[in-house]
Amino acid sequence: MPKSLWTVGEMVKAARGKCSLPSGTKVSGVSIDSRSLAPDEAFIALRGLNRDGHEFVEAALSQGASCAIVEQDFKAPRGEKRLLRVADTLQALNDLGTASRARAKDTVVIAVTGSVGKTGTKEALKIALMPSGLVHVSLKSHNNHWGVPLSLANMRQDTNFGVFEAGMNHAGELKALTQLIRPHIAIITTVAPVHLGFFRSVEAIADAKAEILEGLVPGGAAILNRDNPYFERLRRHAWQRKAKVVSFGETQGADARSLSVELGPESSEVKADILGETVSYRIGAPGIHFVQNSLAVLAAANLADADLKAAAKALAGWHAQTGRGERIVIGGKGGRVAIIDESYNANPASMRAALATLGLTPREEYKRRVAVLGDMLELGGLGPKLHQELVEDIDAADVDLVYACGEMMRGLYEALPAKRRGAYAKTSEQLAPLLTKGVGAGDVVMIKGSFGSRMAPLVEALQRHFQAPSKAAQA
Ligand SMILES: Nc1ncnc2c1ncn2[C@@H]1O[C@H](COP(=O)(O)OP(=O)(O)O)[C@@H](O)[C@H]1O
Ligand SMILES: [Mg+2]
Repeated sequence: MPKSLWTVGEMVKAARGKCSLPSGTKVSGVSIDSRSLAPDEAFIALRGLNRDGHEFVEAALSQGASCAIVEQDFKAPRGEKRLLRVADTLQALNDLGTASRARAKDTVVIAVTGSVGKTGTKEALKIALMPSGLVHVSLKSHNNHWGVPLSLANMRQDTNFGVFEAGMNHAGELKALTQLIRPHIAIITTVAPVHLGFFRSVEAIADAKAEILEGLVPGGAAILNRDNPYFERLRRHAWQRKAKVVSFGETQGADARSLSVELGPESSEVKADILGETVSYRIGAPGIHFVQNSLAVLAAANLADADLKAAAKALAGWHAQTGRGERIVIGGKGGRVAIIDESYNANPASMRAALATLGLTPREEYKRRVAVLGDMLELGGLGPKLHQELVEDIDAADVDLVYACGEMMRGLYEALPAKRRGAYAKTSEQLAPLLTKGVGAGDVVMIKGSFGSRMAPLVEALQRHFQAPSKAAQA
């Protein structure tokens, strides 16, 4: 019988709470969502912006939670013993995360941040490290003030490698997160204009990303992108923290450096020098951006004393995730249509990467390249310029037709030559009928925009139109 993740007694101690259950009561995990709660997990009632988790305590308990962590004023159903009372539930979650990190004495802990590529890099680390031991990674994109402590609290004590995504919208946030994670290795994937609305400049973003280094354990390492214009700036931060600097990229002098890269429409072949060891590997998802991320992954595997060859080999199993480059091929009667689903989010860096990847599609397979673009949000005053600059990327990728929606994409659309204009509409909803009418067999269609631009319905509209079962129907 494997040891349970927590006992009630350990939780009471860590969170400085009170509970009348026997202290040996087993807890299989920690959850903040009663809908996805697994048997014997502890449910933490967090107070959110819209809902108060205390409203869901009864549901969680009736679904088999071992206990619910609640605040003092919570009115319990009569005779309910399965409550662990604390002064502040968010603080209790932080305390559990801290305690979990403190007891993981033999775990190599890796933190991943950056303007783009955090989740993908975290997932790649998972598959790369798996051949070398037990890996624990953050779920989904759980990278904020509750996501990070929750991920920590769910780490088993016998974990060999703990990988945590850390994100931020404002200065100061990463500092708090990294002090919980206390990584041995911190990766900054890249620095790019994202959430510019909250920052004065991209330099200010770089400085905020460098906060991830503040929680490094003594002797820890910073894995930094040598191809990025802010590399020197980040390296200075690392030196100030007395961190070991390991750089990655294609630039001469990078410690993890690509020697040759062949970009294919479905995968890439890479030969790289990883801190002195040459490895050749295939990445199971297309695009130069994943090649860049893979160098950081392998640098981390090397520093973590994992089996580097096995890590490199495992990257063949790396696939783009839902909404982040996933390919959906639908076979209409007259031929196939391929959708590259990038609908989850967008910023200038990931937009460029997605357009470049669209440009890798061979003409023999799909005759026409179609880009469906929604606004990239949160770019502040630079927004219009950053949208219009995409003209160059559209040109470089030899995109045939652009469909666009959103205020800022209008500027880009109008800057395109007439032959490239598919259609424009204010909202993605209004664009849907124009798109389904315009797209046909033999097209490869890349759909991308910020989450707030609501591009996912366009993916579904195309799927419905070409009569493939929709994702919802499959699930
Ligand atoms: N290094 C990179 N440069 C540019 N775009 C990238 C990079 N890594 C990933 N992307 C793209 O960025 C988008 C978001 O990726 P994701 O891994 O979810 O990032 P995050 O977790 O930082 O939001 C995806 O479309 C992905 O293909
Ligand atoms: Mg993410």
